[in-house]
Amino acid sequence: MGSELVSTKDIYNVVRRTLEVMDAQILWHGEITGYLFYNILKAEGIYTERDLAEYTLIGMLHDLGMIKTGYEGGIIQCERTNIWAHSIYGYLFLKNLSPVDDKAEIVLYHHLPYKLHSQIKSRYMKVTEYLTLADKMAVFLRMGEDKAEQSIYMRQAQGELSAKALELFQIAQTRFDVLRKLKTHEYQKELEALFDRISFTERQKRSFLDMLIYAIDFRSQPTVIHTMSTRTFALELGRLMRVPAVDLQILYYGSLLHDIGKIAIPISILEAPRRLTEEEMRVMQGHVVMTDKILRGVMDERIVNVAAKHHEKLDGSGYPEGIGASDLSMLERTIAVADILSALYGKRSYKEAFPPEKIKEILLEDANQGKICIKVVQAALGHYDEIIRTYEKQRDVTMERYMEIVNQYDNIYERFKEFDQAEMTA
Ligand SMILES: [Fe+2]
Ligand SMILES: [Fe+2]
Ligand SMILES: [Fe+2]
Ligand SMILES: [Fe+2]
Repeated sequence: MGSELVSTKDIYNVVRRTLEVMDAQILWHGEITGYLFYNILKAEGIYTERDLAEYTLIGMLHDLGMIKTGYEGGIIQCERTNIWAHSIYGYLFLKNLSPVDDKAEIVLYHHLPYKLHSQIKSRYMKVTEYLTLADKMAVFLRMGEDKAEQSIYMRQAQGELSAKALELFQIAQTRFDVLRKLKTHEYQKELEALFDRISFTERQKRSFLDMLIYAIDFRSQPTVIHTMSTRTFALELGRLMRVPAVDLQILYYGSLLHDIGKIAIPISILEAPRRLTEEEMRVMQGHVVMTDKILRGVMDERIVNVAAKHHEKLDGSGYPEGIGASDLSMLERTIAVADILSALYGKRSYKEAFPPEKIKEILLEDANQGKICIKVVQAALGHYDEIIRTYEKQRDVTMERYMEIVNQYDNIYERFKEFDQAEMTA
């Protein structure tokens, strides 16, 4: 959509690239499920295109909870074992952090057999039936098309899938030739065109990305806080330096996405309760390369550069490229300082937060050695208390959200255990 900095299609593509980096099978499964879900809903014929796009994204992200629960052994395996854990986390991320919070229950119940639906009060159970069918079909298609249809009918006969969903799928298949488009990969162009036609509001776009980043970082509490703090610092510094509004937007997205590449870093390294070994450090430093890989060609180049250059230094001593001052714009220099501030302020598993005097000293020293931009550092030191107050407020909100999700998870999991009982006695 022409002049906007971040389009709805960009959001869709960042979601795709993120799933791809998690695991090629996860992208495949998410996309196929999203596409089948989209077609079943289209066959029902009562939704606007915008609704359809929202549902498609939910379909693509229905297994998002696996970011937290892990996906070792592959997606098919994870869809059979421990189904509730990833359903609940996926639900909580959508519910607490996304613009489609009202529809989050669709993800919560995506593994609940149809015969148990009558026990649930939710206005989205009908749509959940459709997602459940789409999800199962995607799994069966993975194992070969000939068996897929047979397996689906068997599951329906056993009361696991709804007849109505199946009927709508048949209508979609007749009208839209769904399975052929999946086979020829034509579906990818169709989805991209859908997200090109519709436009989410600025708030919705921000919120979708917020959720994605939060879900990725959720594996480690200090990482969640680090990302949100870097964003706060970057915006505060940008404001103090009176950068134009569009630059503030670039800073917003660039700082939110700067560590998205950490999705590829094992939790044992992210959460190591000690200083990293040289080898671990090398792996950790790869996160910026991954950030670049996820965003480049998808987001506006200025945003990609702000995100991917945050560990570069003016004297060329940074990584991954070791570029110097002439290759670093004011915005790129700003996020570098914001990232350091956030790291110094944050508590990590191996260190306490530094006291303010020490932080100021480190920033000045780095600037005097020609590593980071003195102008940005001066802006930070000139309004230090003010910046820190904003940071602390934001940090408290983030912590609260984090704890809320942790607590809600435990409560919901207790309730879901009863479904296992019901399943066994049914
Ligand atoms: Fe699932
Ligand atoms: Fe799934
Ligand atoms: Fe980083
Ligand atoms: Fe960072």
